[in-house]
Amino acid sequence: MTLDLTTMLPQLKSFDEYQAAYQESVSNPEAFWAGIADSFKWHKPWDKVLSWDFNTPEVSWFSGARLNISENCIDRHLEDRGDQIAIIWEPNNPQDKYRNLTYRELSKLVNQFSNVLEQQGVKKGDRVCIYMPMIPEAAVAMLACARIGAIHSVVFAGFSSQSLADRINDADCSLLITADGMIRGEKKIDLKQIADEAMEKSPGIRSCIVYNHKGFAMNMQPGRDFDWNTLMEGASAVHQPASMESEDPLFILYTSGSTGKPKGVLHTTAGYMVYSAYTFKNVFQYQDKEVFCCTADIGWVTGHSYIVYGPLLNGATTLMFEGIPSYPDPGRFWSLIEKHKVAIFYTAPTAIRSLEVFGTEPFEGKDLSSLKVLGSVGEPINEEAWHWYHENAGRGECPIVDTWWQTETGGIMISPLAGITKLKPAFATLPLPGVQLAIVDEKGTEIEGNGVEGNLCIKFPWPGMARTVYGDHERFKLNYFSTYPGKYFTGDGCKRDEDGYIRITGRVDDVINVSGHRIGTGEVEDAINEHGYVIESAVVGYPHDIKGQGIWAFVICDREHHSYEELCAEVKSHVTGIIGPFARPDRIQVVKALPKTRSGKIMRRILRKIAEGDTSNLGDTSTLIDPTVVDAIKQGAEEIR
Ligand code: WTA
Repeated sequence: MTLDLTTMLPQLKSFDEYQAAYQESVSNPEAFWAGIADSFKWHKPWDKVLSWDFNTPEVSWFSGARLNISENCIDRHLEDRGDQIAIIWEPNNPQDKYRNLTYRELSKLVNQFSNVLEQQGVKKGDRVCIYMPMIPEAAVAMLACARIGAIHSVVFAGFSSQSLADRINDADCSLLITADGMIRGEKKIDLKQIADEAMEKSPGIRSCIVYNHKGFAMNMQPGRDFDWNTLMEGASAVHQPASMESEDPLFILYTSGSTGKPKGVLHTTAGYMVYSAYTFKNVFQYQDKEVFCCTADIGWVTGHSYIVYGPLLNGATTLMFEGIPSYPDPGRFWSLIEKHKVAIFYTAPTAIRSLEVFGTEPFEGKDLSSLKVLGSVGEPINEEAWHWYHENAGRGECPIVDTWWQTETGGIMISPLAGITKLKPAFATLPLPGVQLAIVDEKGTEIEGNGVEGNLCIKFPWPGMARTVYGDHERFKLNYFSTYPGKYFTGDGCKRDEDGYIRITGRVDDVINVSGHRIGTGEVEDAINEHGYVIESAVVGYPHDIKGQGIWAFVICDREHHSYEELCAEVKSHVTGIIGPFARPDRIQVVKALPKTRSGKIMRRILRKIAEGDTSNLGDTSTLIDPTVVDAIKQGAEEIR
């Protein structure tokens, strides 16, 4: 009998089992995680499961062990499931041919590309930037980096050349992997052209590998730019994976915070592997041979953990979708599920809300009987969207796992286990085994018991947690471990209801969540302030029916002789150029002054309330230098609402 690796990783099967596992994970965390880690392939066992100190902060899991995550994603499955499909690729245009890659085919590509990377001089520990469309080659590039021990830094292909250059330079990447371009919906994006602009500002890039996806015209700079296929033709399909230490870095992923430029969150190898695999198998209750589809982009953490690593570590079939929910029509998700017999479908509330407006007609004639589990991620899901998703996509039968987590957590932290945990719409419900939450008040005192509300912290390490901010450990400490010393602070607020169920209420810092994209208001302000028309700005989020939050910019201008329309167009295109289209302000309000305290701090709380349209109680405004500016802003807000 051959061992079925998928079933070796423990899967909780009942609520009692969940409770027992949770108890065990708290009372005996090292034994608990060691039991899970046992189902992977290690070159050398660990000396110690966990050492940690949240003050410094230093955390290390499975130290002393050696392994390779790409070997665990691929090679480990070849004997039993070499001919099983690893990746299904569904193109933007449903008329184009889709692709199926078996584990054996994926293995060949990853081995070849690992050899290509080594021939390009990439070594263990080097940083490689990946700026790619949603195509299997993006996953191949990630896995090949992991195989040779290089650290990948995937940059979402919606970022501008400036943002791409900033990320390349911050991580000091020596190689860039990109494509000629992509089409999403009807929008054509010339990735290579954007990459060319970025490379002009990134002197550290020695070479660029370009995958020709759409046959777009592009400039190839001899000596620097290389064609993916040409390099692959000459590459051997055999590659011995590098033996990595547990705490060797696996990837960097940039994410926004309250202040400063985006941070390069760093994840390491063994803990991330164990955590992404365990959460995938348990939250979604994945069963052998099922098709799993996550609609996130690989440029975000959801794509890393639940398109690539989590599913492949479990020997699953993962579907990668290149397109958007509304193209060629608002039934696209449902046709895709029908076409590929998707069993588990994981998407964002924004996508659900954007489809809700089309009613139930797009479901007509579609057979969604393959669906067993639905998932939601990235932002709070409102009850209405939850019910619509449940009734229409899920035929009123499929459980919805509302999964709360973050780039920094590496994997899902609070979520129902599909079909096991009793659901409550808009609640992420209960912490997964190994996740020790603490709800704290403003002073950092833990609020025990049920029926409480406060800021969400985590007080014990879990294997998937980020270890540092690349190149700036002090910032890691300051951002996450200093607000409430001894605890990891998530930046989110939450409620724990009478049943002990968690409902995430949203960010309590200056981060906003627009269509599931995490954006620092400070980043948008910096971009706006760079424009010649603008003296100063303040950006807040406001409730938006579809995007969850929209971006409201209050702007002080330096001249009067441009029209409001011109200003809006200028500011919007400027932000698009500096960050990307997803960070473009939805509303721009010209103001004469911003509400500032005597120490010069903008009182964002007031601006937030005005943008939300909730001006009945603006709280104490007596500390403002000039409280009358508030009335003027209130009035102006009504005019543009
Ligand atoms: C928010 C995405 C409510 C939250 C995986 C968090 C959520 C931020 C949920 C992280 C959820 C994510 N319910 N809010 N189920 N999931 N969030 O780093 O504010 O892109 O802090 O990771 O998204 O966003 P990130």
